[in-house]
Amino acid sequence: MCEKLVMKLCSSQLILPVVVILSILPLVCADLNSDKIALLAFSANVTHGPKLKWSNVNGNATNICTSWMGITCTSDGTRVLMVRLPAIGLSGPIPSNTLGQLDALRVLSLRSNHLSGSIPSDILSLPSLRSLFLQENNFTSNIPASFPKRLHILDLSFNLFTGNFPPNFQDLTRLTGLYLQYNSLSGPIPNVTISNLKHVNISYNHFIGSIPLSFQTFPNSSFIGNPFLCGLPLKFCVSKKKFPLWGIIGIALVGSISVLLLVVAFVFCCLKKKESTDSSRVQKRKPSTDERDKKFVEEFGSGVHDPDDKKLVLFEGSYNFDHEDLLQAEAELLGKGSFGTAYKAVLEDSTPVVVKRLKEVSVSKKEFEQKMELIGRVGQHQNVASLLAYCYSKDEKLLVYDYFAGGSLMNLLHGTCFHTICVY
Ligand SMILES: *[C@@H]1O[C@H](CO)[C@@H](O)[C@H](O)[C@H]1NC(C)=O
Ligand SMILES: *[C@@H]1O[C@H](CO)[C@@H](O)[C@H](O)[C@H]1NC(C)=O
Repeated sequence: MCEKLVMKLCSSQLILPVVVILSILPLVCADLNSDKIALLAFSANVTHGPKLKWSNVNGNATNICTSWMGITCTSDGTRVLMVRLPAIGLSGPIPSNTLGQLDALRVLSLRSNHLSGSIPSDILSLPSLRSLFLQENNFTSNIPASFPKRLHILDLSFNLFTGNFPPNFQDLTRLTGLYLQYNSLSGPIPNVTISNLKHVNISYNHFIGSIPLSFQTFPNSSFIGNPFLCGLPLKFCVSKKKFPLWGIIGIALVGSISVLLLVVAFVFCCLKKKESTDSSRVQKRKPSTDERDKKFVEEFGSGVHDPDDKKLVLFEGSYNFDHEDLLQAEAELLGKGSFGTAYKAVLEDSTPVVVKRLKEVSVSKKEFEQKMELIGRVGQHQNVASLLAYCYSKDEKLLVYDYFAGGSLMNLLHGTCFHTICVY
């Protein structure tokens, strides 16, 4: 049509107007006409109801801007700016090489129809598209890999889209609204900040993981209906994805601490036990090197179990030794009397003492102690062998005296020798 017009003008003699018109014509005629061709191709190839009644009735290209339903042109009437065909019973896929040819298109709304399949790639590369409304259809494909770069609003909600969060989402730097609710999208949400983004709705999908920081400013209802999505503004993250990270560390920590405590407790017990067996073995073994010692230990050490029993009560000013020292001292029998048996014991610093083991003395501890105090005081006299110490236990009553090399008074009186040391 435009070609004919050009030929007509050229065949006339008006050269100057022809030059002027020639320079303007391609802009005016070809583009609005190609928009009309594209729209007609769309209506011819998409399944639609009776509401859509575009037709090429009188061949007037400008007519599409004023009389075609859902078409808005630029203010100068040279290009199709918006196509809005909501809820007019469109179904099946959007035919390619139709709406995708409207290269001045800014707004495309085909919402609330029954469209299905995928979005043609030519629509997704329309350079000037600002708003794409395809919500409430039956699109089933994966979410497209790329969208028009200048997109402000993308509404794909209430469809059957699958796949991950829009890939190359970070390229949509002018996006202010993203609506993906009620689809079957899955995977994590990328941590991408788009400063213009004002509205986001990704609710009722299958997204997983934690909501990235850049999305946490949006309300709770933007994310609900994704059972495996967590973090602010939703519930605290306890999803399967997060659990291994914190859970395993926690369990491992608690586990290793418990094991460590058990090991420490075990080692401690063993050491404790070993120590006690060691010390008892030393006690028993050391004196056993000497037959007389052994006897002494057996005589005095046996039957004394209560640590309190072993306590040797020392009198003031006497030697500093204890029950242990006595057990380890070299000992020899001095004699047996009616009150018990006397031994000579040589302490570690080679001090000899006499140990008298009382037999069949049944007195209370308190009474015994009182008696010992009394004897101790008497023993202060220079002519009496002084009591150095005594030991009271249930089974043993020991008295420890200074040793006099001359033998006992009894020895002198009776002239009886109990032992080789007694030379008289
Ligand atoms: C989508 O398709 C299903 C059947 O596959 C149908 O029940 C449903 O109404 C359709 N929805 C739209 C919006 O076309
Ligand atoms: C997101 O979409 C759901 C479902 O349509 C709606 O209930 C919710 O209010 C929306 N939230 C926002 C912030 O748009």
